[in-house]
Amino acid sequence: MKILLTYTSMTGRNEKIAKYLDQYLRDHGAEVTLQQIVDTDAFELEDYDAVIVETYTYNDGEVPDEAKDFYDDLADVDLEKTKFAVLGSSSKEHLHFGRAVDYFTMQLNSSNGEQVADSVKINQDPDEADFKRVDMLADNVLKSLK
Ligand SMILES: Cc1cc2nc3c(=O)[nH]c(=O)nc-3n(C[C@H](O)[C@H](O)[C@H](O)COP(=O)(O)O)c2cc1C
Repeated sequence: MKILLTYTSMTGRNEKIAKYLDQYLRDHGAEVTLQQIVDTDAFELEDYDAVIVETYTYNDGEVPDEAKDFYDDLADVDLEKTKFAVLGSSSKEHLHFGRAVDYFTMQLNSSNGEQVADSVKINQDPDEADFKRVDMLADNVLKSLK
């Protein structure tokens, strides 16, 4: 079970969640590559059994600047049914709560990926209920690979 977990984080919330998710997946037998979106080549996604994208949202509902090249490149990728899931912490204090999660979800579907978990939006710091939703996302990804 080769899983790519690629994330971007400005103030550390998504990094913390990504590390938690990485550990959870490893504890359940997956081989995980954890890296930042800025270091991720969209054309390599098909090398993995599943891809998890984690992002915050910036500037009135936008994909963060450092994730834009990766996001744009996804339009030229055929994921050939690579399994995927999307999550991210953003903030209800801003307009368009977690819109970048929606953008990635739509683009990965358009690129012929197979969405295997509902996308998870977290408001700022994750609470206990949010971690359960992260666990559920991970469980769905793992189940899809068995
Ligand atoms: C200038 C600025 C703009 C933001 N714009 C949005 C936004 O449009 N929508 C949203 O849901 N969150 C927005 N946020 C909130 C961040 O996505 C949120 O703080 C997130 O938890 C940051 O994640 P990180 O700690 O991984 O960087 C914005 C934050 C800042 C500082």
